[in-house]
Amino acid sequence: MKFLNQLKKKDLLNKKVLVRVDYNAPIKAGKITETTRIDESLLTINYLLEKGARVILVSHMGNDGSKSLAPVAKYLGKFFGVQLVKKINDPKLESYLLSGQIVLLENIRQYEGEKKNDPAFAKQLAGLADIYINDAFSVSHRAHASVSAITKYLPSYAGLLFAKEFKNLSLALKPRQPLTVILGGIKFETKIPLIKKFLKTADQIFIVGAFANSFMKAMGCDIGASIADDDVSYIKPFLKNKKIVVPSDVVTNKKDQIVDIGKDTLEVIEEAVKKSKMIIWNGPAGWFEVGAKKGTLELAKIIAEAKGFSIVGGGDTLAAIHELKIDKKFNFVSTAGGAMLDFLSSGTLPGIKALK
Ligand code: 3PG
Repeated sequence: MKFLNQLKKKDLLNKKVLVRVDYNAPIKAGKITETTRIDESLLTINYLLEKGARVILVSHMGNDGSKSLAPVAKYLGKFFGVQLVKKINDPKLESYLLSGQIVLLENIRQYEGEKKNDPAFAKQLAGLADIYINDAFSVSHRAHASVSAITKYLPSYAGLLFAKEFKNLSLALKPRQPLTVILGGIKFETKIPLIKKFLKTADQIFIVGAFANSFMKAMGCDIGASIADDDVSYIKPFLKNKKIVVPSDVVTNKKDQIVDIGKDTLEVIEEAVKKSKMIIWNGPAGWFEVGAKKGTLELAKIIAEAKGFSIVGGGDTLAAIHELKIDKKFNFVSTAGGAMLDFLSSGTLPGIKALK
């Protein structure tokens, strides 16, 4: 893999550089509520601007291409002159770049070719620039045109944020032991390959959040009206494994739904975390977005105080850490959610392969 910091001023001066970023961020009332992914991308953008490059930013927002990146353009406007360009064939695009502005292309998933990894679309996109940078590790688990196929048409490099993610998450592929893994959130089945992988290296795998509901359902526990998979048969092969630990106590709401982990569960996790040389955490411990935050916030504090090397990631996980303002207490805070899980389970990603 080639990295952006191998490119010097002579390589970048007046070059048009297309940077795949991940600005898929939560928005409320037209304002971005979690800006980490954007803030972290500034490193690469500034590097390129300092070397005299002309920058075209490409991102998705949401799943289907219907959302606008306008709130992101507004936020970026605090740092640079930014022009949001609705279509990739906008005839003014070139003139915006020449006038020294950064171009932010509107949601790339508005084009069918993006998710299809369509070579013709990738070629059209590549036609806008001289060099391609992938600085979106967090979307590199998607073999999409702006992540994968585009590398066939341009000299391609990993950006500075991508490199940071790659380097730090690679440490977890050969983890220090004892290793404690804590997995939460709601995307149940997506975490199974990771569990299989960590059963080989982890001392304990704590299952929390809505993910735990499905586990408890598979164990035959009464989970009331809690959110869980209808079919939990895929969990059955893991039920007897002593390394996997589900919550011993939970908090419920008036609708008889489990919304958080309880005090005893936190104590058990704390004990394991204190003994660990490495801790990996992804996914909230409770129903974070409806306000059941206590378990997740307490868990964040426990891991922040750990002596072992801590790696954390995932959207709500980041939100908890930022609410507590304890980012610096972790060894590595990843901007990736699903991509972090895929990388940890397979050791690579489509976006990484495309850069090789
Ligand atoms: C994420 O938020 O995990 C990435 O931006 C990927 O988004 P996606 O799940 O819509 O592909």
